Amino acid sequence: MPKRQQCKALVEAIYIQFDASHDFEHVLRVEQNALAIAASYEDVDIETLQLAVYLHDVSDKKYAADTAALEQILKTIQLPVMQEQHVRHIIEAISFRGGNEIEAQTLEAQIARDADRLDALGAIGIARAFAFGGAKGRKLYDDAEAARTEMTEDAYYGKPTATVTHFYEKLLTLQQHMCTEKGRALAKERHAFMKQFLTQLAKEREGLL
Ligand code: ADP
Ligand code: NI
Repeated sequence: MPKRQQCKALVEAIYIQFDASHDFEHVLRVEQNALAIAASYEDVDIETLQLAVYLHDVSDKKYAADTAALEQILKTIQLPVMQEQHVRHIIEAISFRGGNEIEAQTLEAQIARDADRLDALGAIGIARAFAFGGAKGRKLYDDAEAARTEMTEDAYYGKPTATVTHFYEKLLTLQQHMCTEKGRALAKERHAFMKQFLTQLAKEREGLL
């Protein structure tokens, strides 16, 4: 079996344990986004890109205490050393870390990061944010909570915020930090839709609609 297929089958069993914001469907959408962005470039290492997309959240610290799942799968699929290193870099570079992300050093890392971030935007981004908030028992919104514009990685992961606060701390900041031109273009409409959602939400809360 090709490594890509082997890896995809192995990760599916892990994502099944996560809430709807980071389930296997998330991985499939990120793969679709990544392939759409990759189509604008020549010389993309598609296999490495796909492997990294499949693996990118299996040991996410929001869900796993350690990186055992990632290490186990990498051990099973036995990639050439350089390719495994590249996959590890892409996974490291995808993560937002409260705005303290590491530099995406390869085209594949830039594409994977944009692809993952597109799934945090738009209608699907809204659905995922409330699914995550619901799974963690967060408030929908909290008027007493100030959105942080700058924070350390530990502060970002350490404070459970209301979901609307997360829009201001992360989701609305993503558009201006997309790595690829195609990613930036795709982010635009999704960003506008989220803003429209927040405007509508505020109007409904104020009793204006
Ligand atoms: P990363 O793990 O890449 O650093 P995040 O921790 O921001 O990124 O989580 C990825 C996704 O999980 C977000 O895009 C969002 O859908 C959801 N999420 C994370 N934190 C929150 C939160 N505080 N409220 C609502 N959704 C969240
Ligand atoms: Ni992801």
